[in-house]
Amino acid sequence: MMKMVIMGSGTGTNFDAIHQTVSEGSLSAQIALVISDKPDSLILSKARNHNYPIEHILAKESDKLLERLLQIAPDYIILAGYMRILSPLIVDSFPEKIINIHPSLLPKYPGIHAPQQAIEAGEIESGCTVHFVDTGVDTGQIIAQARVPILPEDTKESLHARIQDEEHKLLPEVLMQLATY
Ligand code: GRF
Repeated sequence: MMKMVIMGSGTGTNFDAIHQTVSEGSLSAQIALVISDKPDSLILSKARNHNYPIEHILAKESDKLLERLLQIAPDYIILAGYMRILSPLIVDSFPEKIINIHPSLLPKYPGIHAPQQAIEAGEIESGCTVHFVDTGVDTGQIIAQARVPILPEDTKESLHARIQDEEHKLLPEVLMQLATY
């Protein structure tokens, strides 16, 4: 069975989507650990409520993080709203095993302001990208993308919400595909 570590910093809606897919049995995978750099993040409290093992590890404690990840030896490490850059040592220790979800059609708009930048650039569509993590920022090999329209009245919040609806389908779909290999 595919063993996963999920890492996040925020609200954990992508974690919710993965949890739901696992608990309903459509994804044959184990969530071995949920890690956050933020002790009071929603993702950690949600994971605790679902009885998954959780840990708070600061981003600067990269030796501790690497040690834990090596101990667990997951098939995949899922960055589900993890807002920190992983150290090159960690990235190089898990080639093609670390997966990120990003709210733009990469390579357009890497970084933390993607929905706003897509609106400001006058784009008529945006979307989300699931990709392998390399040592750059949102630059790794693209696995899958989903598109959404940008509407004239969109704010960065309304666009991000529309993108997130697609994230919650795309990320579990990718994991289901990876689990079948
Ligand atoms: C998502 O929009 C994801 O693309 C970005 O961070 C957000 C995380 O949201 N990397 P959540 O914590 O899964 O709700």
